[in-house]
Amino acid sequence: MPEYHQSISKLAEWIQNSPNTVAFTGAGMSTESGIPDFRSDKGLWTKTDPMQVATVEAMNHRYDLFHEFYSLRIQNVQQAEPHTGHTVLAEWEKEGKLKAVATQNVDRYHHKAGSRNVYELHGSLEKIRCIDHGHPANSENFLNRTPCSKCGSLLRPGVVLFGEMLPQDTWSNALNCIQQSNLLLIIGTSLQVHPVNQLPSMAKGKVVLINRDEVSAAYAFDLVLKGSAGEILQQVNQVIKGE
Ligand code: APR
Repeated sequence: MPEYHQSISKLAEWIQNSPNTVAFTGAGMSTESGIPDFRSDKGLWTKTDPMQVATVEAMNHRYDLFHEFYSLRIQNVQQAEPHTGHTVLAEWEKEGKLKAVATQNVDRYHHKAGSRNVYELHGSLEKIRCIDHGHPANSENFLNRTPCSKCGSLLRPGVVLFGEMLPQDTWSNALNCIQQSNLLLIIGTSLQVHPVNQLPSMAKGKVVLINRDEVSAAYAFDLVLKGSAGEILQQVNQVIKGE
């Protein structure tokens, strides 16, 4: 049996025998839904400098550019939907095969696919709030540039901008969950952003990478499956179901 299929079967076996599996996902988990990632060849950061649009400084001093960038991302996410890879992870959670998903993604596709135990380490595009006081608002208000109804301030998406702190509770819960896992599935991430790129080394059990491109050699994986997340997760699920 070719090596790739052996790896698919091995991962299926590990998932079936692991009492505590956790998934850790990045932007590569959503590209098969049509949502671009950041650093691969067609990624967002190959066209736009993140320092120009994804920082507090950009939000405070270049609001038009900031607003345009995040409006496009919100509309893109609204017009697309989760793919079968997200659905497989949600199914595994329901079947007790997966404890939780820690994600860097802000599209809420894991929730939309049915996952319940999701740690959104970089927040969520949909959670709109005003810049001055954090008063809640909605995506339509942000897209239409409606000022905060309570204080008149400009609005922002609830994503973690470069230089901002991660949500502390979410971080500690995700860290705790990964430290207790017997099997960590790292899916669709270049592992280049701190501090989330420290999470794989906190795992005590086996660590598996499912990714299109190589990631930095600093990481030691027990198994690497090079390819598309959606396809690989579907194939592993078919082996688990004996299809
Ligand atoms: N299947 C598997 N892997 C994929 C797929 C796919 N369909 N599509 C892309 N990839 C891989 C790419 O090869 C790349 O290595 O996913 C990885 C995506 O890496 P990045 O674009 O760097 O995204 P991510 O790691 O999630 O970035 C982390 O950076 O800009 C910040 O806040 C942003 O959360 C983001 C963080």
